[in-house]
This record gives sequence, C-alpha cells and structure tokens, in this order.
Amino acid sequence: TRLFIPRDTTALAMGADRLAREIAAEADKRGETVEIIRNGSRGMFWLEPLIEVETPAGRIAYGPVDSQAIDSLFDQGLLQGETSHPLCQGLTEAIPYLQKQQRLTFARAGITDPVSLDDYQQLDGFNGLKKALQMDGQAIVDEVKASGLRGRGGAAFPTGIKWQTVLDAVSPKQQKYIVCNADEGDSGTFADRMVMEADPYMLIEGMTIAGLAVGADQGYIYLRSEYPVAHQILNEAIDKAEAAGFLGDNILDSGKAFHLEVRLGAKAYICGEETSLLESLEGKRGMVRAKPPLPAIVGLFGQPTIVNNVLSLAAVPYILSKGGQAYADYGMGRSLGTLPFQLAGNIKRGGLIELAFGVTLRELLEEYGGGTFTGRPMRAVQVGGPLCAYLPESQWDTPMDYESFQAVGAALGHGGIVVFDDTVDMSAQARFSMEFCVAESCGKCTPCRIGSTRGVEVIDRIRNDEDREANMELLEDLCETMIYGSLCAMGGMTPFPVQSAVKHFPEDFNQPAQTNG
Ligand code: NAI
Ligand code: SF4
Repeated sequence: TRLFIPRDTTALAMGADRLAREIAAEADKRGETVEIIRNGSRGMFWLEPLIEVETPAGRIAYGPVDSQAIDSLFDQGLLQGETSHPLCQGLTEAIPYLQKQQRLTFARAGITDPVSLDDYQQLDGFNGLKKALQMDGQAIVDEVKASGLRGRGGAAFPTGIKWQTVLDAVSPKQQKYIVCNADEGDSGTFADRMVMEADPYMLIEGMTIAGLAVGADQGYIYLRSEYPVAHQILNEAIDKAEAAGFLGDNILDSGKAFHLEVRLGAKAYICGEETSLLESLEGKRGMVRAKPPLPAIVGLFGQPTIVNNVLSLAAVPYILSKGGQAYADYGMGRSLGTLPFQLAGNIKRGGLIELAFGVTLRELLEEYGGGTFTGRPMRAVQVGGPLCAYLPESQWDTPMDYESFQAVGAALGHGGIVVFDDTVDMSAQARFSMEFCVAESCGKCTPCRIGSTRGVEVIDRIRNDEDREANMELLEDLCETMIYGSLCAMGGMTPFPVQSAVKHFPEDFNQPAQTNG
C-alpha cells in the first residue's frame, strides 16, 4: 500500500515527521507492508497532517491525523482506504476546497514526491523546457507576452515586457542573469514556499526557460533563510536535475547552458525589494538602489538581469507547454491567468486557493475559508501583505483582479489574505504598520526612516486621546509625505494600511484605546 504524508513545513509543524515514523512502526507491528511517500502539501492546511492512501478509485484523504488516531485508523481499514473513520475526508480530489480550484501552477502540488524526476515528468514536467529548446529567444518571450502573465510578486508588471527589456539589453561583459525572488516576506503568504517544497522542478524549469529566452546562463534563487525545508528540497532537486541533464553546460544535448544556485537571504523584509535583493546577492548590506537604471538593464553585478518572483517563474513551464493563449484563457480584463490566493489569519480553513482572477474576496472568505476560526464575525481583511489596505465588509464583493482592487484603493500584492474578527482594534493595526516600517526600513530615505517613527508617535497620541483632531491631520500629512517622498514601496506603501484603517474604521480612532500598543 502506498501512503502519502507531506514533508512540507506546515505539515512538519503539525507533527508529520513523527506521524510518518509512528505509522511505519504500527504497520510493521501489524505485519503490513506500506510504502510511505513524502509528498508536498495539497494546501489544505486545516487538515494537516493530511494522510492519503492510494486505492484503485483514487487517493483517499484522512486529516488532521494525530498520534492518538493511528490505532483506530488502522483498525478501521486505513490501508484499504475505508471511509468510515471520522477523520476520513473521502477522495482527495473531491474535497470541495480542492475540486473547485483552477490549479495551473499548483497542478502537481501534493500529488508528487517533490524531488522525484519521474513523478514530475509523468505530469507534464519539462515539456515547456523541451519546447523552449526548439525556439529562439524572441519566440519564447513572445509566448510569455501572449500569456498576459504579470509579476506575481505584487507589482504586476508584464513579465513578457520585462523579459524583452533583458533580451534587448546589451551586456558589457556578455553576461546576463536570472534572479528568482524567493524572499517571501509578506504576512500571510506561503505560495512561494509551497512551490519550492511541493514542486521545485517547476521553478527550475521556469528559470531555465527564462535563461534560454534572454541568453542568461546563470541563475540564482534568493531564498528567505527562514525556509530551511525549501532550502534542502531545492538543493536536492537542483543536484538531481543537473545529474539528469536538465541543467548544466549542455541541457538535454542542445548545446545550451544554464546553471542554478540557491543563496540564503539576509533575514530582512527589505531584501525582498529587487534592488536591495541584488545588493544582498552581491554580498553587501541590503540597501535599496535608486531606479532607473532598472535591474533589467543594470542588475546583478551591473549586468542585465531578470528579477522575477517564484510564482511568475513557476507559471512559465505551463505557458510554454500549453501555449500562452491557454494561460490567457483564464482571468479577466488585463489580469490574465490564475492567482494562488493564500488564506491566513483568523480563518477556519486556511490554505492555498488557486483560481482565475475575478473571484470575489467574499467567495474566498466564506465558501473556501468557512468564516473565522474563532467563530466571531469578520471585521477587517488585509489583502496583499503588510503594505496593503484593510478592506471592510462593504468591499468584499470586489472582483479580485489588479484593476478592480486598485479602483477601491487596495492591491492584490502577492495574494496573501489575512482575516481579523470583530475584536480587532484598527488603530492598533495602523500603529503596527508604522512600527513594521520602523523595523524594516533600509534607512536610505528620510520620509520612511524618520516618518515611520513619527507615525508611531502620532498614532500613540491619537490613541491616548491627546489633541485628537490636530494629530489626525498630522497623520494624514505624514502619510502623504511618505507616499510621495519615499524611494521604494516600503515607505511609499506603509501609509496604505494606515489610511484604510482611518477611512473604513474611524470609530477605532475616535475613542481612547483600552491598551496602548
Ligand atoms: P515597480 O512597479 O517599481 O516595478 C515592478 C517591476 O517591473 C520591477 O521588477 C521593475 O524593475 C520592473 N520594470 C518596471 N518598468 C520596467 C520596464 N520598462 N522594463 C522592464 N522592467 C520594468 O514595483 P517594485 O517596487 O519592484 O515592487 C513593489 C511591489 O512589491 C508592491 O506592489 C508590493 O505589492 C510588492 N511587495 C511584495 C512583497 C512580497 O513579499 N512578495 C513584499 C513587499 C512588497
Ligand atoms: Fe529604504 Fe524606506 Fe527609503 Fe525604501 S522607502 S529606500 S526602505 S528608507
């Protein structure tokens, strides 16, 4: 019997390693032969650790499984895929949370053993690369343009146009680079990590295709150092891909080369900003560089460089394999394809939901998320990370696409969604936004470095009921100074959550706070 127990960080945090050992021991004790495969996560985190059993009808899921349940699971026919146990969720693919998704990027996540080249190739793996090897650089870039893919790190710049800039750029040293931004730092986000832990070859394939497209033979994955499991899996996958000829000096005997290395990040949020990331990759302190010049023209070590988020690069193998149009068939308006949304915070069913753009926030919160974890009414939802707006209920029917969100003063960012119930104090959240900026500012420009500190002080005075009206005005002025005067998105976007809190939850700023900070 084949059993699947994830090796993803979330499952490990919920005891998956211990569980795998205990299940193996129990099977041994009962004289049963089992093969335990350590897959990636399906992204249904409230069910982790989620165990699956392979049966002729498909994979049957059980979760969340803990040590106490092992005995009864075996007694009630776990290895035969019996469905009577209370933890049984039925056929994995038929769980509504999963069944209703449109998984293009996450098509293999949780199904395969992440480091098995055979598993990857059986499910369309490396078909995009094989096609790309037959094409010239311009044709590959054109395919990416046709897909409508926009940067999934948050800024949503068209990926094909970025690639075109790098393809056309002249490198003084005949060297271009592909850099993958895997410094996933936004609150409530984990989609990059899931790609790297569940399907690392997809990222390797996407980066190799990017290299072929623009004529770069060296790539770096800048990985946040808080992701040790992803680090290990990526390195294992890179070694295996190299040994099998998918990376190296002569990819699949094509005469073309691409090399890939993982570099660990410097544990700073600002190192996720692309120019700061490049400084850090070069071994320097992560300070933001002024743009222009764009990294596409003067990037890593001064050479033309593609800097793309994990999810952008991970979408590329599908686009090359199925064609740009197949990807563009999903989505709406200028937001084409799918976005892997990440539901987190105070939510009953947290996890990853990949859907075409256009789904509403309410559908995600209610149909997928099932309401708050505490069972209390939801009050505020922060979409897009710590630099993006809080949305009140009146905005939850906004379609989730880049333009519709922008129209209501919000942003999708990297697709992270953090939910708060009615006990949240929005003036405390506003204070936290400024405090976060104090901690994470690179210090290069004044509006961000000093402004955020002053921001904390002003919000404290408002919360302490000191000269409220004047301080509210001051806060608004300060926010504008930061938005228009900061060099990068850190200082330039920190005011967005603050302003949205003031605008949509004014009652939280109108009375003395119960606790300070
Ligand atoms: P940006 O708008 O300055 O640039 C977006 C990208 O397009 C950059 O890579 C830039 O180099 C490139 N670009 C712009 N014009 C180009 C051209 N003509 N040719 C080629 N490339 C061009 O935005 P920025 O400052 O890079 O990112 C800000 C965004 O990052 C925010 O929207 C925020 O949502 C997101 N963010 C994401 C985080 C995460 O953890 N994923 C954390 C913090 C912020
Ligand atoms: Fe550095 Fe903040 Fe200025 Fe960005 S806005 S360059 S993080 S000081």
